[in-house]
Amino acid sequence: MTSLPLQNKLSSLLNRAPKVSLGEIHFQSPFVLAPMAAIGSAPFRLLMERLGAGATVSELISCHGILYKNKMTLDMLRVDPEEKSVGIQLFGDDGDEIAAAAQVAESYGPKWIDLNMGCPVKKVVTKGGGAALLQNVAGLEKIFTTIKRAIKIPFTIKIRTGWDLDSRNADEILRIAQGCGVEFVAIHGRTRNQQYTGLADWDYMDKCQAAVNIPVIGNGDLHSPRALHTTYKERNFSAYMVGRGALRNPFIFAEAWRDFSDDASLRDENIYSQFGGRDYWIIIQELKQIMEKYIDNQRVLQIQLKKFLAWFSTGFPHAVSFRTKVLNSQDYQDTLKMTEDYFLQLELHESKKRIEFSDSFMTSGHG
Ligand SMILES: Cc1cc2nc3c(=O)[nH]c(=O)nc-3n(C[C@H](O)[C@H](O)[C@H](O)COP(=O)(O)O)c2cc1C
Repeated sequence: MTSLPLQNKLSSLLNRAPKVSLGEIHFQSPFVLAPMAAIGSAPFRLLMERLGAGATVSELISCHGILYKNKMTLDMLRVDPEEKSVGIQLFGDDGDEIAAAAQVAESYGPKWIDLNMGCPVKKVVTKGGGAALLQNVAGLEKIFTTIKRAIKIPFTIKIRTGWDLDSRNADEILRIAQGCGVEFVAIHGRTRNQQYTGLADWDYMDKCQAAVNIPVIGNGDLHSPRALHTTYKERNFSAYMVGRGALRNPFIFAEAWRDFSDDASLRDENIYSQFGGRDYWIIIQELKQIMEKYIDNQRVLQIQLKKFLAWFSTGFPHAVSFRTKVLNSQDYQDTLKMTEDYFLQLELHESKKRIEFSDSFMTSGHG
């Protein structure tokens, strides 16, 4: 982190985070970044680690693409030498193919290989991958052991609670995973058919995790630092995974360590944030610097960066007009100048972020 004051602010919060081990996998904190397609590549993962994510997981990566040596797919496997705790997530339907792809992925240097068993997207499930694996209970032991035997690093899975509400079987999948020596299981607390509707069922996930010894990571709807903090205090999972919350508040992994009991102003979870416009501008420059290492084409770089600018600005005053301006800007330097001006103005006016958590946000994804 290039800014000492920001580093100090982060450290004062992150000093409270315990390191945790899930089997052989070590996290700097129990709060980890969820896998997100087209988002969780090395630059964003590294930024999130620097901002306090205890670990991160890559976006889902196609086993077929890896085995066909598709260049774009192989590029997705890249791990930054600075990343301390990262898993690469694969999706596929056939144990032998996943195992072969896992060997290739392992050579890129992640700490573990994760299998996507939660993707609800039709194109993936009709081929038997993603959440369709939840329905293939009889075949899972063979798939898990084939993958595990093929690699030296640990193997993990990410599931949903089941295919639909009438056939929830996360408990059964956990038992199978435990029997096969899977290192941990992350559960998104919705069924495949729920997609992103309704709420994650934390009570059901809790019952499932309490019945097994394998480490379980809970995931779903931890959108604010306070929600993450409270769930951590109240539940007994080995770790907690945050996806969308980190896009609107990239400081969530640090801010969740704030002492929420001592300050009445923190009761409104929408407005709580210790991080202002200048902090945002600093981390945007960091993200840009890391992205420049990975993306040669300036046009692509600009498009990628704009996505994060739109998410990071959510909840700040005049964010809508900033987004419109920035999304329409053609020149890379213009985009950067507008961004600097916007975030430094926020700092000048001591503007606070106010996220309306009831607004729907990113209601489709791959897990
Ligand atoms: C844009 C987007 C992309 C996602 N991509 C993946 C993915 O590649 N693999 C996966 O297992 N889950 C994926 N998910 C699901 C998240 O990992 C997570 O389970 C889900 O968003 C619930 O967590 P949240 O409420 O903290 O966002 C994705 C979700 C979103 C919103």
